Amino acid sequence: MLLEVSNVSVWYDKAMLINNVSMGVDQGELVSLVGPNGAGKSTLLRTITGLVAWEKELKKRSTHGEIKLEGQITFDGERIDKVPAHEIVRRGLILAPERRRPFKEMTVIDNLMVGAYLIRDKANIEENLEKVYQLFPVLKERSHQVSGTLSGGEQQMLAVGRALMSRPTVLLLDEPSLGLAPRVIAAIFGVLDELRHEGLSILLVEQDAAVALRHADRGYVMRTGRVVRAGTAGELLADDGVREIYLGPRHGSEG
Ligand SMILES: Nc1ncnc2c1ncn2[C@@H]1O[C@H](COP(=O)(O)OP(=O)(O)OP(=O)(O)O)[C@@H](O)[C@H]1O
Ligand SMILES: [Mg+2]
Repeated sequence: MLLEVSNVSVWYDKAMLINNVSMGVDQGELVSLVGPNGAGKSTLLRTITGLVAWEKELKKRSTHGEIKLEGQITFDGERIDKVPAHEIVRRGLILAPERRRPFKEMTVIDNLMVGAYLIRDKANIEENLEKVYQLFPVLKERSHQVSGTLSGGEQQMLAVGRALMSRPTVLLLDEPSLGLAPRVIAAIFGVLDELRHEGLSILLVEQDAAVALRHADRGYVMRTGRVVRAGTAGELLADDGVREIYLGPRHGSEG
């Protein structure tokens, strides 16, 4: 596996937020991680990208409770569970976090340039920008608009675009569809389909399991900190237990 999480557990004080999770993403796969509120999905993404470890370091010097991390995470064959968050970014694991909002006072293009801060070569930056504009033409149309005036959907596109500006090896997305209209969600998933076909490795967290699994190669279902189901997207979509418990009654009768 390109990205492999092995027997990872995370505690905040006495609360075990991640309970012995093993999962992974292979080169070129789109893997969906689904599950209800509070399952630990965001915490797992934050663990992979070094943010929980970073928080742990910060909290050493505060009155906050203790954070404990166990297990092993490897990326491209090397352990990253002790590697600082900024170095994980440099290696190409890029997270577009939940409820991501751009810097509101900055223009669209300036926000995109923030995403390219690690790239030195100007030609590469131009190439990445053209790619993002091709995927999200509305960002090109609005490139000189102040980001705070974008619609919610456009801001989410900007968040994904900004992550893509650094040419990630693995793109990690935390609920890109949150609070958006169906038409906008369809547009974002259209882009994810395209990226997947181009061979980008993607780890997608979503509460809407039906949508997330329809666009995925494989999936994991999390609940109260554990992985409770794993399989191909087709297997999970056809699994009665997954359908009833996690997809909700409104998806229960769909084929
Ligand atoms: N910094 C924190 N300190 C203490 N508990 C936390 C912290 N962050 C998250 N939690 C708790 O950990 C659990 C998992 O939270 P997490 O945000 O990872 O879930 P999630 O699956 O992403 O949920 P959602 O779908 O609502 O985004 C929740 O019970 C949450 O209250
Ligand atoms: Mg979350």
